[in-house]
Amino acid sequence: MNALRIHGGRRLTGEWRVHSAKNAVLPIMAASILTGEATRLEGCPELVDVAYMADILRTLGCRIHSGDGALTIDPQGLNRHEMPDALAKKIRSSIFLLGSILARFRKATVTFPGGCEIGLRPIDLHLSGLRQLGVDVREEGGLIRCDGRHMRAGTVHFDYPSVGATENVMMAAVLLKGRTVLSNVAREPEIVDLQNLLNAMGARISGAGTHTVTVEGVERLHGAIYRPIPDRVEAGTLLCAAAITEGSVLVRGACAEHLRSLLFKLAETGVGIRETPAGIRLSGTAVSPFELRTLAYPGFPTDMQAPMTVVALKCHGTSLLNETVFENRFMHVSELCRLGGHIRVENNVALVEGGHPLCGGVVRSTDLRAGAAMMLAGMIAAGETVLQDPAGHIERGYQDLPQKLR
Ligand code: UD1
Repeated sequence: MNALRIHGGRRLTGEWRVHSAKNAVLPIMAASILTGEATRLEGCPELVDVAYMADILRTLGCRIHSGDGALTIDPQGLNRHEMPDALAKKIRSSIFLLGSILARFRKATVTFPGGCEIGLRPIDLHLSGLRQLGVDVREEGGLIRCDGRHMRAGTVHFDYPSVGATENVMMAAVLLKGRTVLSNVAREPEIVDLQNLLNAMGARISGAGTHTVTVEGVERLHGAIYRPIPDRVEAGTLLCAAAITEGSVLVRGACAEHLRSLLFKLAETGVGIRETPAGIRLSGTAVSPFELRTLAYPGFPTDMQAPMTVVALKCHGTSLLNETVFENRFMHVSELCRLGGHIRVENNVALVEGGHPLCGGVVRSTDLRAGAAMMLAGMIAAGETVLQDPAGHIERGYQDLPQKLR
């Protein structure tokens, strides 16, 4: 998708079925190589990042079939411990494979990962966690060489509850003899989902969703059939779209428990939210300004900060959005200002003066969630907005977004 033309001013009504979460599927794909048997993932989204991860797994020797919304990964032929350089640079989640390749081969070579340009995104916490398991990590000429011959179960503490580092070290520890205790871990629903998948494969892991995860090592894992959790960011983006268009939308399959902090903020703006067994219905329009601060889960998710900036533009008065997770996550702001948004950024706070009408124009998507935010902005701007997305950011995380919004 190179460019989208958006004609603003329409009310969103209808239903939207949410896919399985990209951020759950990617680590789960990495976990699938911890066994020699096939794993089938149901409800798997067709996303560019999922395709990249599948390509990396193929290069390592896996066979992958997709169809009927399911993805089957057969790692029987897994025979490489070196990650393909060009592919790994395209997707940050390639780093998750470090833990699972190490668990299988006791050695791994990866390149520094790529991904969205939303900050420095170092991997020091991943490497520190692996070192605490006894892995010898060497960084040489852009490559990370890991020697896991002396890996052993034990204790791992994280300076910061990184989502990816927690997942990586859980996978590295699962086949080690003995008990590994991980402290100050991330508590995101995707961590719980990875635990559930690994336990379905025969692992013995507990504590995900709290600050401490305990991994009792097992000798081997087996294949599984698994449906990853619904995508809370996809669901949240749709709820924001309804909130800015005076819409009435049922987001089917969305899990309200995973979206608590977002629903709380949206309710503050004055919209109506109803949680039903089928999903979440939002109706009405956002009017009251709000303040939010992005934090690790269960705090407000950084991935929803850009869409909520557009909600703030719709509200009457000044909203404050404080970004504390990533250091460079306001790239959507200058683009929103091109459409007439009144936004000022001071350090890591965006001050949004809402209630001014937006006017269509040409804007560019700078990263995945910023791209989604620009799409939302186009929906409330007068006239036509052309959203340029030459790098295909939006397709990395949303399946058929324009078609479904139509
Ligand atoms: C995951 C999500 C991403 C989300 C983010 C925070 C996936 C595939 N992606 O990314 O959508 O925005 O969680 O909720 O699940 N950090 C370090 N050193 C490290 C690792 C991280 O300093 O080794 C920093 C990062 O730069 C960032 C913060 O920690 O500032 C949070 O990153 P982390 O929780 O690791 O996010 P990801 O797993 O990359």
